[in-house]
Amino acid sequence: MNWNALAQFIHILAVVLWIGGIVFMDGFLAPALRRAMAQAELRARLLYVLFRNFFAAIWGAGAALVVTGYGMVWLRGGFGALSPAQWVMVILGSAMVVLALYIFFVPFLRMRAAVLRADWGAACTQAAQIRLLSTVNIVLAVPTILSGVWAIFGPLA
Ligand code: HEM
Repeated sequence: MNWNALAQFIHILAVVLWIGGIVFMDGFLAPALRRAMAQAELRARLLYVLFRNFFAAIWGAGAALVVTGYGMVWLRGGFGALSPAQWVMVILGSAMVVLALYIFFVPFLRMRAAVLRADWGAACTQAAQIRLLSTVNIVLAVPTILSGVWAIFGPLA
């Protein structure tokens, strides 16, 4: 078995699912809902179910990303053997994972609590917080992906 190829394949697959999912939700779905649905209750209910289902799926992708990421560190000979580009990947990638965990445990769980007590205004505020922090992760994804490419092929120029 070619463990390097398998780990990189799963790593990329997890990244596509996770980052692709938040780009779609943040960039397209949530703004369209805001325009199409004036009623906070409907919007909050729909966004809550979307976020809940997305998080349920993304736990698997996130775990695969972390396992393959740190697995590749081990396959490359451990932290002592990492190149600068690989260090950038490990630091930025880990920061993205920590931010995603924060999004789940703080604004998402607050949104859930607000939905359960039918406080639609608070639920929408937390949904906006989730979107904002997810946008930070989308922005961080750009240098992170670049560092992965740089680690394999060298700098762009
Ligand atoms: C837990 C955090 C992460 C760790 C420890 C990690 C680690 C690694 C390692 C060691 C490599 C191999 C580099 C090489 O072959 O020289 C790699 C590649 C890569 N990573 Fe990550 N990574 C993490 C998260 C992420 C995230 C969040 C993204 C995307 C936003 C990402 C995107 C990539 C890409 C595009 C590559 C290059 C292609 C590939 O190897 O499949 N990684 N990562």
